[in-house]
Parts: sequence; structure tokens; C-alpha cells
Amino acid sequence: MKHLLSMLDTKDEIHEILALASELKAKQKKGIPHELLKNKSLGMIFEKSSTRTRVSFEVGMTQLGGHALYLSPKELQMGRGETISDTAKVLSRFVDAIMYRAFDHKMMLELADNATVPVINGLDDIEHPCQIIADLLTIKEKKKDFKKLKLAYVGDGNNVCNSLLLGAAIVGMNISVGCPKGYEPNKEILEKAKSIAKSKIEILENPFDAVKNADIIYTDVWVSMGDESEKEKREKTFLPYQLNQKLVGNAKRDCIVMHCLPAHRGKEITHEVVDGKNSVVFDQAENRLHAQKAVMVKLMIHV
Ligand code: CP
Ligand code: NVA
Repeated sequence: MKHLLSMLDTKDEIHEILALASELKAKQKKGIPHELLKNKSLGMIFEKSSTRTRVSFEVGMTQLGGHALYLSPKELQMGRGETISDTAKVLSRFVDAIMYRAFDHKMMLELADNATVPVINGLDDIEHPCQIIADLLTIKEKKKDFKKLKLAYVGDGNNVCNSLLLGAAIVGMNISVGCPKGYEPNKEILEKAKSIAKSKIEILENPFDAVKNADIIYTDVWVSMGDESEKEKREKTFLPYQLNQKLVGNAKRDCIVMHCLPAHRGKEITHEVVDGKNSVVFDQAENRLHAQKAVMVKLMIHV
């Protein structure tokens, strides 16, 4: 793995990444130092808001003995017209890796093409691979083996859904997506996932069919960052896809409920479900830290 731009980049290494994440998590819980990235620096460019991604990368670098810099495009010369390619070349002279949260996947690719250090996709309009690595770690902890599991994703076929399709295909987990017409996942990503999957992939319109007998139910916001102008229309269209007790009741009794967060309580998920006994959303959020530390170690010291 040279960069982490897409979940596909983890195809040959996902199990190693998850094992390293578990090892680093255990060390951190026991207070065992693991300064594998001593004196290394991570530059973090955020074009969009973030709570989990920013804090987990920054704290993760500190725990690994390194340092992370938060870079806002408004304060960078990028905000005054410096190109993404020049920014990539310059930052590569200072830092050991760059994390980028972008509006446009094309900019992500341009940054990676011009950087001489590893680039990590911290979310763009097409994918959110860091999230899905943490999600796979959470599923492994709660359900042990990916094979034979069914994950149901209900709602918008967005960046999180796209990366989940690839992630499920890579680890051999069955996945059903329940989404309204017109909001299906990215076509090319779906084709790619189908081409590598030995497990089942289905795209359905009825959310009850999608969650039937599911071991994991997953949802995400109806209005992603960048989609704000469609808020009213989306909130109407997605109403039948709300993750509420009735929908959870159609899955297995011991199913786990996941959400990448931030949650919009009362919209895509109800209070009782997000705080309910099946919910693992905060364990899932914590695992961003452990999963990303493993990714950074893999990319920065080529283990
Ligand atoms: N899930 C996630 O990426 O959260 P943030 O937007 O807070 O980083
Ligand atoms: N799909 C959401 C994920 C937020 C972490 C978005 O892109 O805004």
C-alpha cells in the first residue's frame, strides 16, 4: 500500500492492518509505549468539518511519538490560489504523510499524484476508507468472523456506502444496500466490488428486505457535507429509510447497529436505536483511532 485513497488500496493488506490495529489498541489500553512514528509528522488538510477524523489522527500521531498539523485551506495559500499539485510538492518536503479531507475525489488523486509521501483519504465525495477500516475492526471484535455475516446498509448510497461495499467484498462479508431510486451507490464502485467479491452483494429498494436477518445494520446521514442544497428533498425521500425499532426488529435479535457519526437523531436514526442495546456506535468511533494508527504505521514505516 503506497497511499490510502480508496478501500481498494487495502485489498491485500486488510487483515494485517486489522491485526496491527488490535495490537496497538491493546498496547494503548495497557499503557505500553508504542512510539513507532517518533519524530514523524502528518499534515492534515481539512476542506470540510470534522470531529472524529481530526481528533483521532492528531491523538494517534501523538501516541505514536509523532506530530500532526491541522491545515485549513482558508489559512493555507491554497485558499489564495496555490494549486493542489504545488501544495503536494511543498508539503512532501516537510511532512512524512498527508491526510486530506476533500470535496472532490479528483483533487484527492491530484494531491496523491504530486506528493512524494503517502496520502490518506480522510473522506471525499466518493469514499471514506478510514471509516470502513475502523468499522471492520469493530465488526471483527463483536462478531469474530466476517464470512457468513450479513451487513445491511440503509439510506443514502454515499461515500460511506461506497467504501463499505468495497470493504465487504474484500473481507468476504455479504452486504445488502436498501436505498431509494436515484440514490444508489456509485456504479463503478459497485461493479468493482462485484468483480472482487466472493460474497453476496445486493442493492434493494425496500429497507425491510435489506435488513432481513442482518447481523449488522448500518446507516449514515441523509445529507452529506456538500449536499446541503438538497436537504429538504432528501429528508422527504429518505423518511421510509429511518433506522428505528421497527426496522431493527426485522434483523437478527443479536444484530449490532452501526453509524459512522455524526448522527442526526430523529432523522436517519432514532434516539432509542442510537442509544439502544444493539448500538455499538461509540466503540466504532473509538476504533477510528486504533485503525488509523495501524494505517499510518503501515504507510510511514512500510512494515
Ligand atoms: N465519521 C467521521 O468521519 O466523523 P467526522 O466527520 O467527525 O470526522
Ligand atoms: N456521508 C457523510 C459522512 C460524514 C462522516 C458525509 O460525507 O458528510
